[in-house]
Amino acid sequence: MLWYFAGALAALFIVHRGWQRLLLSRAKHPSLAGHARLGRFVAGLIPKIEYDDARFFGADGAPPEIVAGRRAGFERLAALYSERFRKSSDLTAEIRDAISDVQFTSRYRVPFQFSRKVREQLRAGVFLQSSSGTTVTDLDGNRFYDLTGSYGVNLFGYDFYKDCIAQGAERVRDLGPVLGSYHPVIAYNVQRLREISGLDEVSLHMSGTEAVMQAARLARYHTRRRYIVRFCGAYHGWWGDVQPGVGNPIAARDTFTLKDMDEASLRVLRSRRDIACVLVNPLQALHPNASAAADWGLVDRRRTSPCDRAAYSAWLKRLRAVCSERGIVLIFDEVFVGFRLARGGAQEYFGVRADMVAYGKTLGGGLPIGALCGKRDLMRRYREVRPADICFARGTFNSHPYVMGAMHEFLLRLDGEPIRALYRDLDEVWDRRARSLNERLRAAAIPVQVTHLSSIWTFNYLQSSRYNWMFQFYLRAAGLALSWIGTARVIFSLNYTDADFAEVADRVLAAAAAMQRDGWWWADTGLTSRSIRRRIVRELVQARWTTSSIGSTHSPRRRYSGAR
Ligand SMILES: Cc1ncc(COP(=O)(O)O)c(C=O)c1O
Repeated sequence: MLWYFAGALAALFIVHRGWQRLLLSRAKHPSLAGHARLGRFVAGLIPKIEYDDARFFGADGAPPEIVAGRRAGFERLAALYSERFRKSSDLTAEIRDAISDVQFTSRYRVPFQFSRKVREQLRAGVFLQSSSGTTVTDLDGNRFYDLTGSYGVNLFGYDFYKDCIAQGAERVRDLGPVLGSYHPVIAYNVQRLREISGLDEVSLHMSGTEAVMQAARLARYHTRRRYIVRFCGAYHGWWGDVQPGVGNPIAARDTFTLKDMDEASLRVLRSRRDIACVLVNPLQALHPNASAAADWGLVDRRRTSPCDRAAYSAWLKRLRAVCSERGIVLIFDEVFVGFRLARGGAQEYFGVRADMVAYGKTLGGGLPIGALCGKRDLMRRYREVRPADICFARGTFNSHPYVMGAMHEFLLRLDGEPIRALYRDLDEVWDRRARSLNERLRAAAIPVQVTHLSSIWTFNYLQSSRYNWMFQFYLRAAGLALSWIGTARVIFSLNYTDADFAEVADRVLAAAAAMQRDGWWWADTGLTSRSIRRRIVRELVQARWTTSSIGSTHSPRRRYSGAR
């Protein structure tokens, strides 16, 4: 009888686990980004290929006259770059071997097949000399409209942050760099963060990554559960557990990556008792289930559907309800979008309240910051009745007086009329600008359109092409500065006036027209996203098993065998 009972229990357990597994599989996005482990495995199989000259210009099988036009265009750009960006690129060449970050970013600006020639001949450099208004100036004196947004930090214009830093430093000067104790400005900073977030407590960190890490750690501590849920395509910093796919050398076994805006994901949350928290990056409203397309990955026609704020709000409300029902901690990662969408952040913009909210970037008034706000019972790092059971978190530079001073200035100005005015009609302003640029691009028959979430924009390509990534080099030549992740992500600061924007739009059109004239967007009827992808896969498979078929190739084995 006992055996029978135990057997029945075991069978029930196995069925239950099988059911959970099935629900989890259904909640995974079909892309490789939705299958972190498989994505890492596939990435490990991809061999290095470098195109020779002929393949560089004719990777899509374009006819000779198009190839010749591209070659001439490339040579013209190379000559312009070498003359115009000489000082910046010379200094970059000098330090490149000593700074790993520069090596990484310059290598991954374009698809690796094209990378060497571009690195050698379109050398722009990584240095800037100054910033002012909406522009930055390089070592050669070239002024660019800044579309990098300094990774999103620059929300109100660089002069605003220069003031925050200078006046913040003045405010805390007497205390200087004393750590461990607090400068009194913190009292106001924390009070304002509590009001903005609508949450009880605040902890201060040095980066967005750390704030998110602390949120997940506290959620696990208080729920005594193991798993973190994140949504496909969402970035939450570079801590291993929130980056389970490509880029992380070890598997993140305690993270589920689920489909965004999908009922199947809610079913997973409802069916399990081991999920500690759900992380939401509200930027995903712009491209659910995908990351911002980096230039090295731009091949396909990109989806051009506009961001659907109402649909994303409705999704967040359903997510909120399920999390409340199941005791799962809902964490908003507003490190990027906080303050950018509304003065009250994404919670206000989408009308949904989280249990914890991480802020960063712009909040530091131009200095490095991460801040976590949360409900009191979730933020506590000890248990009243178990004094040795703690959730440890510290950081030498947390609450650095200079950072707190700059943050103080940021928060004071946030309440001032000039900044309040920028938030009035914010979406209407950026919607109107996006619409007008799209109309002009359409009228000029250029296969590019933009979609946007307020001041965060992305270029979409209407043409399947092996060369969409070239656009960034034409844009730079036209005096527009983009960050290393390239043309698929443009971040405006809110101090762009209509006149500034009109100038940017003119330059985008001129750059796109030049690129089109040079033949990079050539297409015939056989050139589709599918045919391009098939061709790339064929080349990769070929290169993995042979060593000489496509220009020059490098097998992974050879790379790992000590060759430098
Ligand atoms: C949504 C989001 N979370 C976290 C981070 C990490 O912040 P940090 O780079 O300050 O560590 C970023 C950075 O881009 C981000 O966009």
